[in-house]
Amino acid sequence: MKLAETLKFGAPWVCLLFSIGWIFYQNIQINELQINRHKRELNSNRLPKTDDDSTIFMPIYAQVSKKHIRKVCMEHFHSLKHYRELEKKEPSRVSAVVKELKRKCSAEVSLGKPVFIGERKNSEGCAYLDGGHWHVCEMSHGYTMLSFKGNRRLNSSETRAVQFLPYPFDGTDNMVYNNTMYYSENDRLISYNLKTEKSNYIPLRTSLKPLYANSTSRLDVQAEEHGIWVLYRRQDETVLTVSRINFHTMQIVSNWTLPSIDTSTMCNAFVRCAILYSVECDGTVTPVYDFYSHTYIQGRTTEWEGLSQPICNVQYDPNSKSIAVYANAKIYKVPVQQ
Ligand SMILES: *[C@@H]1O[C@H](CO)[C@@H](O)[C@H](O)[C@H]1NC(C)=O
Ligand SMILES: *[C@@H]1O[C@H](CO)[C@@H](O)[C@H](O)[C@H]1NC(C)=O
Ligand SMILES: *[C@@H]1O[C@H](CO)[C@@H](O)[C@H](O)[C@H]1NC(C)=O
Ligand SMILES: *[C@@H]1O[C@H](CO)[C@@H](O)[C@H](O)[C@H]1NC(C)=O
Repeated sequence: MKLAETLKFGAPWVCLLFSIGWIFYQNIQINELQINRHKRELNSNRLPKTDDDSTIFMPIYAQVSKKHIRKVCMEHFHSLKHYRELEKKEPSRVSAVVKELKRKCSAEVSLGKPVFIGERKNSEGCAYLDGGHWHVCEMSHGYTMLSFKGNRRLNSSETRAVQFLPYPFDGTDNMVYNNTMYYSENDRLISYNLKTEKSNYIPLRTSLKPLYANSTSRLDVQAEEHGIWVLYRRQDETVLTVSRINFHTMQIVSNWTLPSIDTSTMCNAFVRCAILYSVECDGTVTPVYDFYSHTYIQGRTTEWEGLSQPICNVQYDPNSKSIAVYANAKIYKVPVQQ
């Protein structure tokens, strides 16, 4: 009881202990999951590689700042019980697990070549992949999205559904993830579930200037395994801001300010495994920033040939583990090999 009262008044040391405990607890869980998976794989070695990797990856904060500790504490306040359970265990193989996770989610993945899927009429438009489904828009502003089931139907333009959005979208760098569209509308980021038609939003005071060269987008929404990432410039600012947003609550979890990344000379960008990749106008793709270790990186570059201007969107889809690209009316899919 005493502890609960202390926590209520926010004693920072309790928060610190608690968040360390929470991180250890998660690591142990990860470890167990990995051991189980390893066993499963041994039992059936014909099993293809599953998506388990993405679900058991947890953000490991290389440098845990005071602010982060408070945040972790607030996010996981409910699991003090877990912390007590953990006290009894020995977190023995933690560092090995961390190393393994870092390897699995590193900048050194190989990005494939863009595979041409289909063509639309307008040079400006968008195409988002959500598992086996494509969602396509015709312009950089509008109320409707066309949905296609699979590459072949997109190629032959057999529309599965026309989705009407409750608010118009702005720009082409929006996103559909697990049937929810996350998009820019004036000063807001909207989430709209295409199935249940429920919507939510958060206000974001974004600069009116487009984020990228040859683009109309004021912001770029990216979805990946750990949440939604919004790339934008704040009103009256010229530096890049990135906010990570919780899928379910639509609350900002973290903010980053990245003055060394000049988006005005890039044609697009995307986020995968908490790593920001820049896409230059000549099709050069480079990992440039690691959000979890808070460091600028200079990773291996990949050249995507044949993309023509304007490059309207480049979005990573964690469900199909591939990247959707809309460039000058052409739609491409890029496989990501882990
Ligand atoms: C469908 O894809 C093929 C190549 O895979 C391409 O030659 C053809 O132009 C595409 N059709 C449309 C309508 O985009
Ligand atoms: C999205 O769907 C995938 C596959 O069904 C699931 O593994 C993942 O947890 C979902 N993500 C969210 C945020 O609900
Ligand atoms: C923008 O697109 C035009 C062609 O549409 C191209 O000539 C120009 O180089 C592009 N700008 C940048 C910065 O790549
Ligand atoms: C992130 O930035 C926004 C806008 O400035 C601010 O309202 C919010 O409190 C910040 N959130 C965190 C977690 O730092």
